[in-house]
Amino acid sequence: MKVYLDNAATTPLDPEVLDAMLPIMREQFGNPSSIHSYGRAARSVIERARKQIAGILNAAPSEIFFTSGGTEADNTAIRSSIETLGLKHAITSRIEHHAVLHTLEHLQKTGQIELSFVDLNENGVVDLPHLEHLLKTHSRSLVSLMHGNNEIGNLLDLDTVGELCVKYNALFHCDTVQTMGHYKHDLQQLKANFIVGAAHKFNGPKGIGFLYVRPGIKIYPYLHGGAQERNMRGGTENVYGIVGLAKALEIAYRDMDSHRSHIENLKSRMIQKLSENIEGIRFNGQSGQLENSLYTVLNVSLPPSDISDMLLFNLDIAGIAVSGGSACSSGTEIGSHVLNELQIDPERANVRFSFGKYNTEQEIDYAVGTLAELYRKESVLL
Ligand SMILES: Cc1ncc(COP(=O)(O)O)c(C=O)c1O
Repeated sequence: MKVYLDNAATTPLDPEVLDAMLPIMREQFGNPSSIHSYGRAARSVIERARKQIAGILNAAPSEIFFTSGGTEADNTAIRSSIETLGLKHAITSRIEHHAVLHTLEHLQKTGQIELSFVDLNENGVVDLPHLEHLLKTHSRSLVSLMHGNNEIGNLLDLDTVGELCVKYNALFHCDTVQTMGHYKHDLQQLKANFIVGAAHKFNGPKGIGFLYVRPGIKIYPYLHGGAQERNMRGGTENVYGIVGLAKALEIAYRDMDSHRSHIENLKSRMIQKLSENIEGIRFNGQSGQLENSLYTVLNVSLPPSDISDMLLFNLDIAGIAVSGGSACSSGTEIGSHVLNELQIDPERANVRFSFGKYNTEQEIDYAVGTLAELYRKESVLL
């Protein structure tokens, strides 16, 4: 049996999305910047997709900029807002994705900003009074905090953070890569200045994403080149990727309620079965609490054992694909900056299970059974 439980790393392409992309790949090869009919046809495909995405998110098409994915969208929001809006101070947390953390650290190292880290509690939850203190004691800041943590699933209190940013005149960039397509974002309600999406996290194609920029914020290109994306992002557009992104988001919103209840059921089944079958198991961050975490992520901490080092390898042999921490940067089990920050006992092995709409109860049972069997064998050997 092959079981894919690494959906926070990436998701399989939905066949409906593929069907929407294929005719574009076959027929719409024109360069959208060309003024002849081939170019105009490709341009109109892009603008239709932009309008569709904006409509879904309750934004205006002019507020959506296509990028190569989440990393580029995060970089664009952070770098161009620091470099062009002249902000000198940024606030983030130590458990952000590297797309955010490394970007801010680079800006700090090169003397462009002062960087503050908001305190987190032992489960990685943002200390809101400390955030307010940081906002109060610095002049205009950029706040970059993620909505859903890709490793431990923690969810940010978006409304409160958004209100604090408004109160202290800060700009708020929210890395919404893990929640886009899984939670509803209404940009008329949300008090974020920048949010981002990556299609491959919600059954769309890889290499395409977008950045939302709130109106009134004038930022300049991060990628210099041609005049594409209203001078905001040089480079010939990924036309079929953009079509796939719009289709994937449409499907995600259309099916969100059933998708969510299906996956929530899988996650709670796994929590229950793991707790029954593996003594001493713990859940990292907030991921064991359904209401406070992404319904797509469960990060498990296993009791210390001799099999820890080989755990992911053994699961892979059994056909089960999971991640040790975050698979985004390497796909291998390397020390996770997020789990280190939570001071998880290094003797314990950690497994991130992340669920998608194609997973089934049988797959969950197989994964739990395999893990429990590995631990049973281990206890017989001891
Ligand atoms: C929270 C978060 N931000 C950003 C990214 C980067 O997105 P991409 O791989 O599309 O560049 C990821 C990818 O895993 C992520 O989980």
